[in-house]
Amino acid sequence: MAAGEAAVPLPGALLAGKVALVVGGTQGIGIGIARAFLGAGAKVVVAGRDKARMDAVVEDLTAVAGPGHVTGIQVDVLDVPANTAVVEATVAHFGALDILVTVAGVFRPAELVEVTEEDFDAQMDLNLKGTFFGVQAAARYFLADGRPGKIITVSSVAGRRAFPGSSVYGASKAAVEHLTKVFAGELAPHGINVNCLVPGSIQTPTNWLLNRPGAAEESAAGTPARRNGLLVDMGAAAVYLASGAADFVHGAALVVDGGVAAVG
Ligand SMILES: NC(=O)c1ccc[n+]([C@@H]2O[C@H](COP(=O)([O-])OP(=O)(O)OC[C@H]3O[C@@H](n4cnc5c(N)ncnc54)[C@H](O)[C@@H]3O)[C@@H](O)[C@H]2O)c1
Repeated sequence: MAAGEAAVPLPGALLAGKVALVVGGTQGIGIGIARAFLGAGAKVVVAGRDKARMDAVVEDLTAVAGPGHVTGIQVDVLDVPANTAVVEATVAHFGALDILVTVAGVFRPAELVEVTEEDFDAQMDLNLKGTFFGVQAAARYFLADGRPGKIITVSSVAGRRAFPGSSVYGASKAAVEHLTKVFAGELAPHGINVNCLVPGSIQTPTNWLLNRPGAAEESAAGTPARRNGLLVDMGAAAVYLASGAADFVHGAALVVDGGVAAVG
């Protein structure tokens, strides 16, 4: 090891002593990321709109991680000031914030001629505006506190490839990747890393594209890795980007898709 280089932390302790806020952590990929963060030693806030679902997730995660490691905070990211409130509530509960993940997102598949104005606004508002103001709230906290931080956004392979029925969703996710790069450049001088996860087909309970009969098998067959993604795949990638192992990684888009984007 060259002089001046610190050892990379061991995987089990990658996030020891860190506090993570997973916005959209009460369902699907967000739960996978929250679980992986707990496994890597972080304290975790799962934030989402639905209180009953949030309480159930906190109970499940507490059963695995033990008491005091995870809590839930209700938030609707469409309410812009609520993004600041959830950061403040996280700091009030765990004493700090080190990691933000903006997972909340929505996909309303529809071809051009079918898309309604409501479909358009719902996807742009949650995926783009929600991500923007979530990141802004965390960045303001990190900057005011003079502390380094890790921010992870979530886009989609649909933001890179032209899948029929995904025009608005894909545009919102392409925009998330673009925002991520701009934020990364603005915040890197302050020791704040902003990076993006780019999921492919991830098997979640609400992924209706995969949950239709035969769809999961079809999707797996069309994926170079010959399987769909799992929550642990997303969790492991998020742990890396949230950890000190990624201190020199700014504005990256980490594609977790079994090779779909690479061959497209
Ligand atoms: N599942 C996939 O295959 C896949 C593929 C590519 C990208 N993605 C992206 O990954 C992210 C998670 O996907 P998922 O499949 O787990 O979705 P999901 O629908 O299962 O979960 C979405 C989460 O966002 C939260 N949420 C929704 N609206 C909210 C609001 N207004 N305020 C706060 N929270 C809100 C929900 O409570 C939920 O916890 C999304 O951004 C999605 O676009 C998913």
